[in-house]
Amino acid sequence: MKLTDYLKLNPFVIAPMAGITDHSFRTFIRRLDSSVVVSELISANGLEYHNERTFEMMGFDEEQRPVGLQLFGDDPEILARAAQVVEAKGVDFVDLNFGCPVPKVTKKGAGSAMLKDLVMLQKVLSAVVKAVKIPVTIKVRTGWDHNSLNAHEVGHIAYNEGITWMAIHGRTRSQNYEGKANWDYIGEVKAKVKIPVLGNGDVLTAQEAVEWLKKYNLDGILIGRGALRNPYIFKESLALLQGRTETIQKDFYQLLVLLSELYALRCSDRLREIQLRKFAAWFSTGYPDSAQFRKKLFQSQNCDTILAESKLYFSKLFSTNNPNEESASLKSHEEEHFLMGGHG
Ligand SMILES: Cc1cc2nc3c(=O)[nH]c(=O)nc-3n(C[C@H](O)[C@H](O)[C@H](O)COP(=O)(O)O)c2cc1C
Repeated sequence: MKLTDYLKLNPFVIAPMAGITDHSFRTFIRRLDSSVVVSELISANGLEYHNERTFEMMGFDEEQRPVGLQLFGDDPEILARAAQVVEAKGVDFVDLNFGCPVPKVTKKGAGSAMLKDLVMLQKVLSAVVKAVKIPVTIKVRTGWDHNSLNAHEVGHIAYNEGITWMAIHGRTRSQNYEGKANWDYIGEVKAKVKIPVLGNGDVLTAQEAVEWLKKYNLDGILIGRGALRNPYIFKESLALLQGRTETIQKDFYQLLVLLSELYALRCSDRLREIQLRKFAAWFSTGYPDSAQFRKKLFQSQNCDTILAESKLYFSKLFSTNNPNEESASLKSHEEEHFLMGGHG
């Protein structure tokens, strides 16, 4: 099956997130029906210089397929060699990051800085596509700043270089994570280019995912922070798109148990504890008494107490609230600042 065929079956995809879309989380979110998964950004230079930690980030298992690894870098040859290393690992595709706004990355010309130099961007795409047989995808922002929106030009170049799809985070680099994603511009780009386009930015509910997919005639929707609050969003979006009305039973406590098991396979107890605490807090965002619950989480000393507190909180919550009315609750917290930083 071609990579784009997966989007035809299910257009809803987890967005890459550094520190989050690691090996364990990718397995977790594939089980929750993200159509494909992709790693957090990996340094091409780190692979070139055999950095051990960079190599560790490339692990995956069969259950994650179709799975891609995301690379960032500034040098076409180094990126091409890194893509070959990625291909040799046996993944299904390689994704290139042209969205990262972090100064440490952009000041060397990598990430979103590549949007200021489309000649270099074209060289990178050409070198990487020639170097590997697996599909190459890209993730960009709308442009460097408000005066230089150029994702449509990137789309033309990418199509001509044989890139499989382009995901667009609907903010400029200058916006960082401020303001709202510019979905109208994503729609304009889609109407102008031949390359498949995935839209991204601020999707919090299945209703939004399906509405924007249809309204802007997109090939897919990338969901990041919305999936950290509600990992069921992929199942819900797909059901809504397909007109299925069955209720998706939500059980955030069971999701935490699953995450705990997956992290136990690859992480230290300390890291598992940190991750569980974060996820429990994110799942509670927008629900009644979440501030009190989070306080308890941060007082918890180990994974067992985090799970016990979570069991108490979520079972009480869902015995008195209908979890399927959550969309309204999340909408009302739209303005709440939630992870306003990242690498794309
Ligand atoms: C904590 C965090 C880490 C991120 N790391 C990456 C990354 O490694 N690569 C990337 O392309 N985008 C990264 N992003 C950007 C997301 O993929 C996405 O474009 C952005 O969060 C907007 O989508 P959302 O509103 O659905 O979260 C990151 C975002 C966050 C919040």
